[in-house]
Amino acid sequence: MAIRRILKGNHTVLRSQARPVKKINQAIITLLDDMAETMYEYEGVGLAAPQIGIAKRLIVLDPGEDHLMKLINPRCIEMEGEENGVEGCLSIPGIFGEVPRAFRVQVEALDPGGNLIQIEATGFLARILQHEIDHLNGILFLDRAIRLVDPAERPEEERA
Ligand code: NI
Repeated sequence: MAIRRILKGNHTVLRSQARPVKKINQAIITLLDDMAETMYEYEGVGLAAPQIGIAKRLIVLDPGEDHLMKLINPRCIEMEGEENGVEGCLSIPGIFGEVPRAFRVQVEALDPGGNLIQIEATGFLARILQHEIDHLNGILFLDRAIRLVDPAERPEEERA
């Protein structure tokens, strides 16, 4: 496994549509492992492949307590409700914003074994999923933020 460099700001890959993964081979498995290692190294709660310069539809996330998820070709199939919350991003260091997101989502994805799985999530996990899936579509949280939040207002940083 290796720690990858995280792209920042409006890098072209961060602003591009990522491509679906057609075949889950060893390179994809290694990439997911590297993404997880990189996410933990920089103390994020999620990371999308475009953030390390790879335009593929892969995300990893861990809302806490070592609940690591590695998702391939994730997509929201249901969204419900709305809730505002503060977000940050490893690609936009030091900036936080209040972002409206669906309160509940249902996400369909492949796991690293190639199984089609569905994840039903609310609150913080739902927020991370939406933030990471946005990365796959070239969308950054600042595009959706309704206001910036002073980092001093935050008891702890939640960066994805
Ligand atoms: Ni992010």
